Amino acid sequence: MTISADVSGLSIDEAPLPARLDSPEGQDFTEMVELRNTIEREILGTDDAAPTARELLATFRDPYAPKRLFLARLNGGVVGRGVYEWQPEENAPAAFIEVQVASTMRRHGIGTAILTVLERIAAENGLTVIQSWSSHALPASSEVLVPPTGFGAVDRDSAAVRFARAHGYSLEQVDRISRVELPMSADLLTERRRDAEPHAVDYEVVQWAGRCPDRWLTDMARLHQRMSTDAPAAAIEFAEELWDDDRMRNLNDMNEAGGRLNLTSAALHVPSQRLVGYTDIAVPEQEGRPAVQEDTLVLKEHRGHRLGTLLKLANLEQVMRVSPTTPRITTFNAEENRPMLDVNEAVGFEAIGCEAAWKKAVGS
Ligand SMILES: CC(C)(COP(=O)(O)OP(=O)(O)OC[C@H]1O[C@@H](n2cnc3c(N)ncnc32)[C@H](O)[C@@H]1OP(=O)(O)O)[C@@H](O)C(=O)NCCC(=O)NCCS
Repeated sequence: MTISADVSGLSIDEAPLPARLDSPEGQDFTEMVELRNTIEREILGTDDAAPTARELLATFRDPYAPKRLFLARLNGGVVGRGVYEWQPEENAPAAFIEVQVASTMRRHGIGTAILTVLERIAAENGLTVIQSWSSHALPASSEVLVPPTGFGAVDRDSAAVRFARAHGYSLEQVDRISRVELPMSADLLTERRRDAEPHAVDYEVVQWAGRCPDRWLTDMARLHQRMSTDAPAAAIEFAEELWDDDRMRNLNDMNEAGGRLNLTSAALHVPSQRLVGYTDIAVPEQEGRPAVQEDTLVLKEHRGHRLGTLLKLANLEQVMRVSPTTPRITTFNAEENRPMLDVNEAVGFEAIGCEAAWKKAVGS
């Protein structure tokens, strides 16, 4: 592929997604994951939320969130990566991209060359928006960039901010990355739960570890579909995801293929016998590795009953019961999502970094 970076011998090519990791393509994929995790560690100072190659391959093979992978190589080694993801839903407007370059190889145009490849695909596919997320340390100076939401900020002179702005992307939203050490005080969790329970008399918490039970597939599909539109996204554009029982089964399969144990706590509305909210925590299979808090949603019509709090508390209790060696949990929340941050702060989550959401309108 022709590239404009000022590094001789550089190539940027699409990498086939391997069926298995113990194949030549699998070795490339593993090298790509190591590069990804090294770059994230340099920024955030931790590997807590870093996926293994097995976990990431499972998400790359998700037919409901298809992805293409591009590797920049120099002298045989992987020095940069580009990921192009799209939503298969009809009329979905946006491509979601990732661009990362090894810190020793920056400012030679490699990031721009990868970005050019990804933007060209978005144009060929007729998409009108390109969006991306970048990880950041907590701001270290007062020279910050604040998104239009007015919540959160990132250092103005970080490489990602300079790069994204130089290429016409605007900052739309900042997520806080926070973390809590386990075990938490069981007394604190019980006390918080007792405070919340009187507000939720018509509801019960149901829990499972691993695959979603068949009897809840349809309810959980409805909740996942709503998650795709109801989480605060500022001006970041998503098409509504279409979820059914098969997509839920695919999610179960993906977690198993990635070696992650998904712990769910869901809110059952007793009068209707329907699930109206849920929260998930993913526990990696390797003993002692930190867990990651995934989705949390309460349907709009059932908000105001402290269900978000009750679900989170119940799932923290579940992690400590099912996986007592899990040392920490990491979570990502929009800085403007005060209700969710309140719940997390009340049980000891502390900010360790942030994530910036970028957007560029293209074509039309
Ligand atoms: C952001 C990143 C991909 C840039 O890769 P790169 O190969 O250094 O990018 P380029 O050499 O093509 O830089 C293009 C332009 O971006 C800007 N830029 C990039 N890094 C910069 C920095 N550290 N300081 C100032 N400007 C910077 C400059 O305008 C640069 O042009 P110039 O070098 O001619 O001045 C790389 O720093 C990286 O991998 N960071 C961590 C991952 C990340 O945050 N990715 C998301 C990006 S939205």
